[in-house]
Amino acid sequence: MAILSKEDYIREKDELNFHNYRYHTLEQPLIADAEFDRLLAELREIETAHPDWVAPDSPTQRVGSVLSDKFARVSHPRPVLSLANAFDAEDIRAWFDRIKKIDPDIDRDGFVMEAKIDGLTVVLTYENGNLTRGVTRGNGLVGEDITANIRTIRSVPLKIPLDSADSEIPQTLVVRGEVFIENDDFEELNETLIRNGEKTYLNPRNTASGSLRQLNPAVTASRPLKILIYQILDASDENAIPQSQNERCRYLARLGFPTLKESQFCATIGDVIANISAWKKIRETLRFDIDGVVIKVNNLSRAQALGFVGKDPRGAIALKFPARETITKLIDIGINVGRTGVLTPYAIMEAVEVGGVVVRQATLHNFDFIRDRDIRIGDDILIKRAGDVIPYVVASIGDKRDGSQTPYDPPACCPSCGEPVEAIPGEVAVYCINSRCPAQLVRNVEHFASRGAMEIEGLGIKIVEQLCSSGLVADYADLYQLTANQLLELPGFAEKKAENLIASITATKTRPLSRLINALGIRNVGEINAVSLAARFGSLGNLSAAAQDELTEIDGVGSTMAEAIVDWFANERNRRILEKLIASGVNPTQEIQTSEPLSSDLPLAGKTVVVTGTLQNFSREEIKALIRRNGGKTSESVSARTAFVIAGDKAGSKRDKAAKLAIPILSESDFLNDYPDLR
Ligand code: IVH
Repeated sequence: MAILSKEDYIREKDELNFHNYRYHTLEQPLIADAEFDRLLAELREIETAHPDWVAPDSPTQRVGSVLSDKFARVSHPRPVLSLANAFDAEDIRAWFDRIKKIDPDIDRDGFVMEAKIDGLTVVLTYENGNLTRGVTRGNGLVGEDITANIRTIRSVPLKIPLDSADSEIPQTLVVRGEVFIENDDFEELNETLIRNGEKTYLNPRNTASGSLRQLNPAVTASRPLKILIYQILDASDENAIPQSQNERCRYLARLGFPTLKESQFCATIGDVIANISAWKKIRETLRFDIDGVVIKVNNLSRAQALGFVGKDPRGAIALKFPARETITKLIDIGINVGRTGVLTPYAIMEAVEVGGVVVRQATLHNFDFIRDRDIRIGDDILIKRAGDVIPYVVASIGDKRDGSQTPYDPPACCPSCGEPVEAIPGEVAVYCINSRCPAQLVRNVEHFASRGAMEIEGLGIKIVEQLCSSGLVADYADLYQLTANQLLELPGFAEKKAENLIASITATKTRPLSRLINALGIRNVGEINAVSLAARFGSLGNLSAAAQDELTEIDGVGSTMAEAIVDWFANERNRRILEKLIASGVNPTQEIQTSEPLSSDLPLAGKTVVVTGTLQNFSREEIKALIRRNGGKTSESVSARTAFVIAGDKAGSKRDKAAKLAIPILSESDFLNDYPDLR
């Protein structure tokens, strides 16, 4: 390392303290978390080489955030320790070798892998089963008394045990857990804050922290905070509690504490290492952020006997995942025109790696967001990838401006067709209302051909663009009038390709009615509603004649959607497109249910099903539609609420998770045999 002098060390230490202040006190970070971690690791390395340099105000000399004067200070009964970090399997192996040397039997009772929740540590004290205190971690020795706020978190038990399962509980029990906010709740909260003209939060972790440290518990109560408990910090009678991590978690759950479902026992360190990649996949399916996985020696007395290095116990280690937040430069703002005409701004950025993926674009949500956050072209911006794959802009780092940045003016005209744009009262979105807008046409045709709609094989976005720009397709009904000869005129089409495309378009003429309804692209009507509409009305003719109040009778159809449906069928141009579709021989198969059976009588009523892997007889959309038609719900992630999992070929982590939670796993044929009455 190129550190030369003590002055360099002091500069680096001061810089870290400054960033700490920017993040925790001002809530205006200038660098991404990963960059902070990197600098901190560097500082630690220097301190190891020069222990005599270590300054009392070095960020390595304390744990967590600055204690504020807002809350009373409380000493923890035992130090609230942190965790050393590992970054790959090799680091885990090295950790294991170190502790195995100290205690050759350290792995006798295996290991536990747990999700590392990206939240905020709290310490809860129960006296005779009653919650008496809730404290932040503070500096690890002394924390802030936030009992009134903790009591507002609905999943925190105010009294344990919940039932009489464990009547013999220690007189004093101190547990540790993590308070956090789920990603969707975070987005929703920020939207509400924007609507009320209040300051928004940067990320879910920051929100959980800000919400917990409110002086008014009523504000905390209004925030969607969750908690998961993963450790017993202290108990007045150690013998009354289990001695291994996995048993302790089960014990905590029996007492009524919310505990991690994302927890896995591994008999050997080899199993731990083999499971790392599965954990990275689990990360993508969770509704909250995890920044890694914690690996804990299961035998807790052996773990404790290993001792500590600084504030990190030797008996556990955090395997950190790549950060999904980073800073890059905003080069320009582009605009997407969606199929309903909605204009969505997106950031065009200097390419940057975030969470292991190189990205160049990120969504900017809407024009209000750009204005409210004062995001300017040329700014450094903080971007994040959450559970899904589309990255989004969190904030601009305004302090880095040098005067060359330019504020952004939302467009008055559609970037595709040049027609003036319109705002709809009560909506944040801005629309292009030109029904002949070329960008909308492309999106409409793309949607019409997509997997959840008519599923036209071989018709991807590139060909859709060709068909639209050549003028061969002016609406999606034109697809059915295309000839192979016309296609041959287009670049890239040879005879075989042209014939195949015509054949696959023709094959969709008899797709089920629900798919056609979805394909029409009526605003707000998606796959699920299309299934209910097809089931209720049985034909396009009936649906087009439906009155608004008939539509709102359907489960899931509100007045906005009903109005959109009525308006769509009233539109002269849409009527002509429909006529053209029918004249071209589009004749959907009927899913006749003139009188809809009670949904509670359906074979899958009340059941949530997860489908994973490739099936033989159904596409993903088809099996989902089948499940919904039969009263069930589908979900993308396995949880305790999952009734069963249908696993096809190459099923992976979802199948494993179901096995772990003892949720039935059915093959495609098991499913069809078990439910012979599916409609
Ligand atoms: S165990 C001695 N387990 O990660 C025990 N910590 O970077 C140390 N965290 O301060 C903690 N999920 O705030 C543990 N399942 C989990 C965790 C977890 C999140 C946090 C905790 C800790 C930080 C260390």
